[in-house]
Amino acid sequence: MGLRTLADHIVDIAQNASDSGTSQAWLQIEEIEGQSLIFTIRDKGRGIPKNLQEAVLDPFYTEKVKKVKFGLGLPMLMFAAKATGGEFHLESEPGAGTCVSARFELNNVDCQPVGDIAMALFTIITMNQDVEWHMERSLGEDGYEFSSSQFKEAFGNNCFTVPVKMKLILEVLQDAEESLGG
Ligand SMILES: Nc1ncnc2c1ncn2[C@@H]1O[C@H](COP(=O)(O)OP(=O)(O)OP(=O)(O)O)[C@@H](O)[C@H]1O
Ligand SMILES: [Mg+2]
Repeated sequence: MGLRTLADHIVDIAQNASDSGTSQAWLQIEEIEGQSLIFTIRDKGRGIPKNLQEAVLDPFYTEKVKKVKFGLGLPMLMFAAKATGGEFHLESEPGAGTCVSARFELNNVDCQPVGDIAMALFTIITMNQDVEWHMERSLGEDGYEFSSSQFKEAFGNNCFTVPVKMKLILEVLQDAEESLGG
């Protein structure tokens, strides 16, 4: 397994949003090459109970409270972003939704590699067909936007499950990504 990348963090946090029971989710990635990458993921899902909002950021929480299983997605992201001199924010309103954002300083020696953004977007948009994703990606002055419904309109409602159509979606995302910064 390779080194963990910023793209891996994005997939992890998007998985949380996808599991939240939301019908819509928003992902924004803003990168300035060699300088900074900020990503924000927002959902309208169940939210995190107020009394757990600190606990979910503690990687040792699971050891203490055996019956409640918490993972490492949020604490690892917080640690990785702050290690670069960046920032991490979690805002969650029970019953209304959650917003997670992180800023990485790309020129810091402790910053993980950006990784494969096109593959991350592909993984996210195909992970749960019941979630309508709105994705925005920018690199400097360039950028692109996609939504789940846009792919469904172009390739049909089954486009996230039929392999040949999934391949087309991956190619669209890879082309969009390659067109940046050119
Ligand atoms: N967007 C969200 N909406 C609702 N609850 C969330 C959201 N994000 C995180 N949580 C809650 O916080 C917990 C911790 O999230 P975290 O990503 O750190 O670990 P995990 O998802 O449980 O496991 P994994 O290590 O597989 O990511 C989740 O189990 C969930 O209860
Ligand atoms: Mg998680």
